Amino acid sequence: MSHERMTHLLNKQRSFLPPEHGKTSAWISGADEYEAICQQALADPQDFWNARASLLLHWFKRWDKVLEEDSVNHKYRWFTGGKLNASFNCIDRHLISGRRNKAALIWQGEDEMAKRCYTYQMLYTEVCRMAHALSSLHIRKGDHVALYMPMIPELVIAMLACARIGAVHTAIFSGYAEGGVRSRIQDAKARVVITADAAIRAGKLKPLKANLDPILEKCPSVAHVVVVRHAGLDNIHMQGRRDIWWHDLIDDFTLNADYPCEAMDANDPLFLLHTSGSTGKPTGILHSTGGYLTYAAHTTQWCFDMRDDDVYWCTADMGWITGHTYGVYGPLALGATTIMFEGVPTYPKPDRYWRIVENFRVNILYTSPTVIRSLMREGEAWTERYERDSLRILATVGEPINPEAWQWFHKHIGREELPIVDTWWQTETGGVMISPMAYATKLKPGSASRPMPGIDAAVLPSPDNANPDLDNRVCETGTGGHLVIRKPWPGMMLGVFNNEEKYRSYFTRFGCYESGDGAVQDEDGYFWILGRIDDSINVSGHRLSTVEIEAVLTSAAEVAEAAVVGMPHALKGEAIYAYVCLCSDVPWSEELRVRLRDMVRRDIGPLASPERIQFVEAMPKTTSGKIIRRILRKIASGTADELGDVTSLANPQVIPGIVDGHANLLDGLAENTPRQETSDGAEG
Ligand code: WTA
Repeated sequence: MSHERMTHLLNKQRSFLPPEHGKTSAWISGADEYEAICQQALADPQDFWNARASLLLHWFKRWDKVLEEDSVNHKYRWFTGGKLNASFNCIDRHLISGRRNKAALIWQGEDEMAKRCYTYQMLYTEVCRMAHALSSLHIRKGDHVALYMPMIPELVIAMLACARIGAVHTAIFSGYAEGGVRSRIQDAKARVVITADAAIRAGKLKPLKANLDPILEKCPSVAHVVVVRHAGLDNIHMQGRRDIWWHDLIDDFTLNADYPCEAMDANDPLFLLHTSGSTGKPTGILHSTGGYLTYAAHTTQWCFDMRDDDVYWCTADMGWITGHTYGVYGPLALGATTIMFEGVPTYPKPDRYWRIVENFRVNILYTSPTVIRSLMREGEAWTERYERDSLRILATVGEPINPEAWQWFHKHIGREELPIVDTWWQTETGGVMISPMAYATKLKPGSASRPMPGIDAAVLPSPDNANPDLDNRVCETGTGGHLVIRKPWPGMMLGVFNNEEKYRSYFTRFGCYESGDGAVQDEDGYFWILGRIDDSINVSGHRLSTVEIEAVLTSAAEVAEAAVVGMPHALKGEAIYAYVCLCSDVPWSEELRVRLRDMVRRDIGPLASPERIQFVEAMPKTTSGKIIRRILRKIASGTADELGDVTSLANPQVIPGIVDGHANLLDGLAENTPRQETSDGAEG
């Protein structure tokens, strides 16, 4: 865990008070109210969640128990006995509450002229048609439907149609390549895959359907593929009875064909979403209908202070959890207007975001530090030519926001007055866990501040096996440790699909939910996230598994061993650095380096493509033969002078060569080029 980051952050603290203007009408109107709600929520959590679930959602049948707890197996079932439907909550109930003709979903395509707007009534019509269509493909309650789709309205329609009939959707980010898509469809055993002819990204087409065809040869569960005609790509191969065009499929169902909502149990799964696991295989996180939706609506309302006339834009791809909770379920459950953008921030010019903000008069903007850094690099001229006065709240997610990016966002986008809500959470938590309340929390750039009301977060030291009595004591102020959540909350995952052991592993070390992140609390109780403690790397806010990338590298016949670590990167936060040890008779070559990088790109996706691949003679190992990543991480991040004592290694003699090889790579040389200053014999 990075103590450097910790000291750096704590030393540089500056704080910003919440805005006065707009405070009185805010959901949480000040620090006192926040404290009072937190106290009340932690004193009687069941009463608190009972009230939130009643207020925020429509239930077909009220629950018998707020929480059923099996604390031995760490199974938590919220609102048991309750019946509801997510599609009903996100659409139907708004039709009779005066929002029938309100914009529910505004879509901006990559092409500036491509815009679509769905009112709640229009969304209802399309979702019902798709529900009929899925049902005509024999999709029933509990079946799995994979969505490998670009950022187009049909993705939201498909999600809500699945929810309507009780099918479990499993979205697969359209940027994933073959291996990532195959493993997810196979794990989910999806019966139907919905896709498009192509995704459009920065002026290029990615042929999703054509990519899918070879993948499906190894996915026997898939009976049908539904294809949206989106990019107008020619020569799409449609396979016999298996493949159907979306527009042909819904054509059979008339516009007024209502599809009644399935009454789901609160603990029926709403969706499955895979995240990078520490085992190399993606982990399928299951979320419930009742608890998840309650938590999505609850956090959307309080974190972003969502009001009825707000135009809200979460820039995350719907293929990630942020897109699920804050692009679709949270805002639509509250009857808000949500924006969906197909393109990237910098294409064709770096003004896309501000154009959208002006065009649709966006009030709330939720994005990532990576996006901010990439726009910051382009300069303010792109920002200033657009009207940004509609903005009321700014928010970020996915990785810690560095103070420079925070300041830029605050000054150039936030007029030095808007709150920046830095939200910490995870796929597993369903919704935001630690975050400022826009109008109540004093902000410290770089800290996600304090837990949401009802969330019991703490920083604990590593378990002390010799002294178990000391376990579960919290770390002192300023001391880093493991970020855990001690009490259950409604948004927490229902389980890990087909992997009970993995689910349990989240709870074994501390007896409560272990996030896998390191954190430190300061004297005001603010949490500073220090990054992942496990084998994940956070590239541009996307969680990638080192093991998964290593598996691709070692699948090459030439590679004997591979070790992947994160290295600091100015734009992406972290980038991937791969150490590769080749089989003894294989020479190091640029050609092989390019090929290895390409393998990762093709198998997992461009996101996972290593920034650097360094060939090494041998990996540093413990006497029991384990690769010591701690050392590799230090070398990759250019802090080899902090390696400390390495004499306990099995092979300390390999280190100078690795350090030299790293320096050579940075200088654009081959790893084994003798360096002037190391002509004393280090050979790389
Ligand atoms: C990281 C994304 C610092 C963290 C919602 C976490 C953050 C992982 C923040 C989850 C933040 C997310 N500050 N780090 N505000 N938000 N993270 O599952 O390491 O894709 O464990 O969920 O992102 O990534 P995931």
